[in-house]
Amino acid sequence: MIEKDWIDKGYIDAPVDKNIDLKSEIRKLCKEKNAVIMAHYYTEGVIQDVADFVGDSLALAQKAATTEADIIVMCGVHFMGETNKILCPNKKVLVPDLNATCSLAESCPADKFEKFVKEHPGYTVISYVNTTAATKAVTDVVVTSSNARQIVESLPKDEKIIFGPDQNLGNYINSITGRNMLLWNGACHIHEKFSVEKIIELKKLHPEAKVLAHPECKGAVLKLADVVGSTAALLKYAVNSEEKEFIVATESGILHEMKKSCPNKNFIPAPPNDSTCACNECNYMRMITLEKLYNTLKYEWPEIIVDEEVAIKAVKPIHKMLEISEKLGL
Ligand code: 13P
Repeated sequence: MIEKDWIDKGYIDAPVDKNIDLKSEIRKLCKEKNAVIMAHYYTEGVIQDVADFVGDSLALAQKAATTEADIIVMCGVHFMGETNKILCPNKKVLVPDLNATCSLAESCPADKFEKFVKEHPGYTVISYVNTTAATKAVTDVVVTSSNARQIVESLPKDEKIIFGPDQNLGNYINSITGRNMLLWNGACHIHEKFSVEKIIELKKLHPEAKVLAHPECKGAVLKLADVVGSTAALLKYAVNSEEKEFIVATESGILHEMKKSCPNKNFIPAPPNDSTCACNECNYMRMITLEKLYNTLKYEWPEIIVDEEVAIKAVKPIHKMLEISEKLGL
């Protein structure tokens, strides 16, 4: 029975027996229910460790599209659950806390974006995956930070393009492709916060360190970066590189997998400008806890529901992204 109190809260806070081994109970429930746990690199390390699959946004969508599980538990933010539900309408898609939203998705309300699109007829509309289903429904092709460059470059040079919602990613793609895409004015509250001054100070303290940055960072941070890429691309670089030290300018959850994959290398989180804290954590990703994950599997709630009409429209640009990515071997 789903209690009204949980519905109001958007997550289940039923008490969890402190004496049980949560990780093994979670794995047991997955087996019993033929459920798969997917986690983004920005979630807590304990969540990544109990998941069946950890990845960046593109890999998570690709995995969802092919899973044979009956239930997908998406440990990440709301739009990730929506993307999975749109790709798998007949599966139950759960997100342990419905309040885990995304500032980028919030910065692009579908009605305002649709108005903007209508004001610019003749433009191809590219939306970053960090958008709501309703925003994707007024989009021609979805991109992630893993494939944005290649998808933009797959369009004719003179194609008029609207790119939303991340202005930093849009500016970065414009700068590396020579395009002049019309940008929506949105941003990620975490990536906006990295301090250029503090990264410069860290570089002085660690002159050998390579700076790894996510393209959602501001241009001034990206100028300091040795490598710009998606979470998976930054991880891959760290694993394959001969270098031993890295300053990492993206949400600090990625350091978990970096440290795990490269125990002999040193990863330093780039600090934000607004606190004395050394790392930059997404409060929404941190809403996904082991207790909520356990209860989510046990009660099969909170479930992601996407309006059918919206889903029919939103699936097209997501499929387009997956098709182009497959063709490009991404
Ligand atoms: P990645 O696709 O690089 O994992 O980025 C996801 C994201 O939400 C960044 O804010």
